[in-house]
Amino acid sequence: MMPEPAPSLQQLLAFYLEAGVDCALNDEPVNRMLDDEIVAPVEADARIAAPVVRPETIRPLAPRPAAAHGAAPSSPEAAIVSAREAAATAPTLDALRALMEQFDGCALRATATRLVFADGNPQARLMLVGEAPGREEDIEGLPFVGRSGKLLDLMLAAIGLDRNKVYIANVIPWRPPGNRTPTPQETQICLPFIKRQIELVNPAILVTLGNPSTQTLLSTRDGITRTRGRWFDYDAGARMIRAMPTLHPAYLLRQPTYKRLAWQDLRAIATALAATDSPAN
Ligand code: URA
Repeated sequence: MMPEPAPSLQQLLAFYLEAGVDCALNDEPVNRMLDDEIVAPVEADARIAAPVVRPETIRPLAPRPAAAHGAAPSSPEAAIVSAREAAATAPTLDALRALMEQFDGCALRATATRLVFADGNPQARLMLVGEAPGREEDIEGLPFVGRSGKLLDLMLAAIGLDRNKVYIANVIPWRPPGNRTPTPQETQICLPFIKRQIELVNPAILVTLGNPSTQTLLSTRDGITRTRGRWFDYDAGARMIRAMPTLHPAYLLRQPTYKRLAWQDLRAIATALAATDSPAN
């Protein structure tokens, strides 16, 4: 049998990209085939394809923090229950962040570089929620810092706001590998955390950015072209919060003609904010 021809560099890179390996973690390449002291991949390194490793060279995995509620949940259903119970115990945003850092029930945590919790002002009266962090957010640990984040900043500036006056988070706080769409299970596991985050920030107005965040948080199956610009009631437990979906900035980068609609939404949001009576904004 003829041996398979070796893949070209381009094919190899395409393979890595498909597998979600789309950023370099070190400045210098590491030839793990030559390295006597190969360390088993842990945390962020876990996303790099594992080299051929001789068993005697493997050091034990670095200890991971304990799960928020003991051992890692045994099934997605158990993870959802565990996330719900954990989130409910967080009295503050700092406590919520700390327990999410420890939460072992969502597999995305293992492939992401870090938790992307939030950015902005926790006292803000306007909270915006996107879908999930991308590559830049995963590196910086902050939501909306890539290209779509730059556009979001311009959109906010157009109504006189910036990150000191709003609070920004995502439904999913860990980057899905290769920016793939989060699975429904991953979304359900992460949902209690963003719900608790909304409760703790308790904004006057909630804006959902794009379809996934709108459908998840506002329990609608309508698409974003139908929901955008409409007011919804978001049930935050202790009170109802006025919520408006608008187009995701990443979508607007691809379809700039829709910026006109986003501008209409932003003006409605600014008017509603002005009508609320707190001076904090
Ligand atoms: N898209 C999102 O939905 N969230 C981010 O943080 C970045 C891009």
